[in-house]
Amino acid sequence: MKKAHFLAFLQHGVSSHSVGMWRHPLDKVGYDYASPKYWQHMARTMERGLFDAIFLADELAPYNSYADSSDTTVRYAVQAPTHEPGALTTVITGAIEHLGVGLTLSTAFEHPYSMARRLSTLDHLSEGRVAWNIVGSYSPSEWAAYGEEMPERSTRYERIAEYVELCCELWDSWQPGAVVADRATGIYADPAKVREIDFTGKYFRCRGRHFVAPSPQGRPVLWQAGSSEEGRRFAAATAEAVFAIHPTVETMRHYSRDMRARVHAAGRDPDAVKFYYGVQPIVAMTDAEAQAKADHLATLVHPEATLAMLSGQLGIDFSTYDPSTPLDDIPVPGIQGVKDALVATGAGAGVTIAEAAHTYSLRFSMPQVIGSPSTVADQLEHFMDDGGADGFMLLATYTPGCFEEFVDMVVPELQRRGRYRLRYPAKTLRDNILLD
Ligand SMILES: Cc1cc2nc3c(=O)[nH]c(=O)nc-3n(C[C@H](O)[C@H](O)[C@H](O)COP(=O)(O)O)c2cc1C
Repeated sequence: MKKAHFLAFLQHGVSSHSVGMWRHPLDKVGYDYASPKYWQHMARTMERGLFDAIFLADELAPYNSYADSSDTTVRYAVQAPTHEPGALTTVITGAIEHLGVGLTLSTAFEHPYSMARRLSTLDHLSEGRVAWNIVGSYSPSEWAAYGEEMPERSTRYERIAEYVELCCELWDSWQPGAVVADRATGIYADPAKVREIDFTGKYFRCRGRHFVAPSPQGRPVLWQAGSSEEGRRFAAATAEAVFAIHPTVETMRHYSRDMRARVHAAGRDPDAVKFYYGVQPIVAMTDAEAQAKADHLATLVHPEATLAMLSGQLGIDFSTYDPSTPLDDIPVPGIQGVKDALVATGAGAGVTIAEAAHTYSLRFSMPQVIGSPSTVADQLEHFMDDGGADGFMLLATYTPGCFEEFVDMVVPELQRRGRYRLRYPAKTLRDNILLD
């Protein structure tokens, strides 16, 4: 029987993906989200729950697609403010011993040479517990903040593929035995075993040696979350773990089958790629109590904030549309996977912009798993057994409380059922993802 894996889906900011949760009376009681103490407590909580990693999502600027302004985003804390995630990584990994960090870093505005150096350094400082969520910046606001025009999706993916190829050349350039460290001769490293990179691509050039000695994992674990045709192709060729948002077990199953076939066609072992699906757990001692909690959480979302968030992620100004327009009819330059998931929540009926916006900003189009520990465990088992999930990315509500509740209530229930590990199997993040 397959065992579950968990990631905590968070951002380095006052609210993560679920809009308005900072308003909840139990949110960050006694903690400042910008302080190390909060993150160290979060890390210890996830490690107590034997999670694979904290996933730090990121974008590089506040959304401004709605009404051509970031006013609404800033007013309602729609994934804003968001602090830089790289600096947070060692605060987290320094607090615990096994939990990893999946770090979202964009390929859009940084040269691959410094990206490879940064990630190798973080892999050393975390003792092999870093993953890279590879993104190319999908929001026009990010490109505007950096003074550039956003390229089309196909160009973004072509550029990302070349970017990652160069990073991998750099990471793989120190051969085994390159570090000699012979005090008698004074030779530290053998240059014959440290290949100089000479790369000329369509988008990047690089000549030089990788500046960091081989890190515990060699490369960070490569994660990807693209859902469009281009995104799936790239993920199948490159990713070690894939995240996807699917509102129903049917769409999960469909995506798992499609992606496993693509991974196989790319000449890779389909079982070596792990599929994490997003879910929002809302757990309490009884089903009724959990439902009451979920009902209260839904009241915290401001309607205008929902449209600003959806506009930002899909790259469309929804202030110019009638909110009753079906979403399916509108092509999106932003995240295709988000749109597909929202359309699928309607199970055939035309989902309107207003409905999609509410669903999205509350639960990011993920299924909510609401109930007692046993009800939640039943649903997670169903997603693993019938949807092809290897693990779950848990969407936060109020923090750290929602994770404390999950770890205290759902983790022991899954362990009792033999569907969750009793200890970490390994030291590095890559091994903890691959092994149960
Ligand atoms: C679950 C999930 C999480 C994502 N997290 C981020 C993120 O933190 N930052 C980001 O820039 N893009 C993020 N993305 C966007 C994708 O990585 C990708 O760049 C985007 O989906 C555009 O590609 P697509 O059209 O193929 O989906 C996420 C997507 C999904 C489905």
